[in-house]
Amino acid sequence: MTRFVDVKNMVRWVSTTGPERIIRGMIEYVEADFARWNSFDKSPRVASHTPFGVIELMPTSDGETYAFKYVNGHPSNPARGFQTVTAFGVLADVHNGYPTFLAEMTLLTALRTAATSGFFAKYLARPDSRTLALIGAGSQAEFQALGMRAALGIEQVRLWDTDPAAMEKVARNLTPLGFDVVIAASAADAVDGADVITTCTADKALATVLTSDLVAPGVHLNAIGGDCPGKTELDPAILERGDVFIEFEAQTRIEGEIQQMSPAFPVTEFWRVVTGEHPGRTSPEQITIFDSVGFAIEDFSALRYLRDAVDGTEFFEEIDLVASPEDPKDLFGLVGQLSPVG
Ligand SMILES: NC(=O)c1ccc[n+]([C@@H]2O[C@H](COP(=O)([O-])OP(=O)(O)OC[C@H]3O[C@@H](n4cnc5c(N)ncnc54)[C@H](O)[C@@H]3O)[C@@H](O)[C@H]2O)c1
Repeated sequence: MTRFVDVKNMVRWVSTTGPERIIRGMIEYVEADFARWNSFDKSPRVASHTPFGVIELMPTSDGETYAFKYVNGHPSNPARGFQTVTAFGVLADVHNGYPTFLAEMTLLTALRTAATSGFFAKYLARPDSRTLALIGAGSQAEFQALGMRAALGIEQVRLWDTDPAAMEKVARNLTPLGFDVVIAASAADAVDGADVITTCTADKALATVLTSDLVAPGVHLNAIGGDCPGKTELDPAILERGDVFIEFEAQTRIEGEIQQMSPAFPVTEFWRVVTGEHPGRTSPEQITIFDSVGFAIEDFSALRYLRDAVDGTEFFEEIDLVASPEDPKDLFGLVGQLSPVG
């Protein structure tokens, strides 16, 4: 039998445990997996692009457990009543290839993306960071704020989105959680005095939601919305001014903000910072940039975290996903004994 966490159980688990506590725990799992980076199979995700958006498969394995996530990105979806990003994922046992764990990952992706943002910020942001500018107030926004609070103790969130209703939604969701939420009048107003800037907008375009003059020395920039060929958020001049940290170079060169730069543009794979090979932030004035696209190992960590967290609870069910005849060679025997129809 395969353990299965559906949307109903995911919602119950997250509501009972609390999203910030989950993100904090997930940061530890993502960090542990980045620290053993070289034990994973790695490849850029497999993307199928259409004029409507992208559908992607994200596989990896550590030699014991295999994982993949199915995820889409359709920036025009909200206008049609659908979400921009939805996902589900699987863990499997490499010894016999059987799937052991299946989960919804629309919510889990928001939690893992927040955990990854927090994890990078823990190493790269100034430790005294208390103010977050959040540009993009869609599905990921509240999770991103919680990720930065879990990692850094962020207190104030300065919001900007071209959709005022989305900003009001985020203010409504974050204020009761103890954040001091400021609805800004523009991107420039949002980043004024911010220690950390998160861009999480969705547009299938080479957009510029942030220009270089808006990025002050010392800021940590967490850019999560530029994650597909032809879909970026930052003025390339910002990348020239800062030090760019990425997940997996072969994927980020195709999908990240750095798709706008030459193939030789210098970047650092973040596992090198985690293992101490690279110093990360070296001065309070340095601009650090996480050019985030989302990598398979983070989903592996998130699925692993969820699997361990729900073990022994009522937040999963067992489903019959693999046909298992008593004689492993007699698959036909499962259906051959039925009386013929007609
Ligand atoms: N890097 C990762 O790991 C990762 C993971 C999940 C999602 N994402 C990406 O993050 C982005 C946000 O995802 P979501 O699910 O919150 O999307 P969403 O569609 O729910 O929200 C996006 C928001 O951006 C706003 N927006 C668009 N253009 C803007 C602009 N120029 N200035 C200000 N606001 C603008 C929209 O009004 C909307 O409220 C998407 O691009 C998605 O693909 C990345």
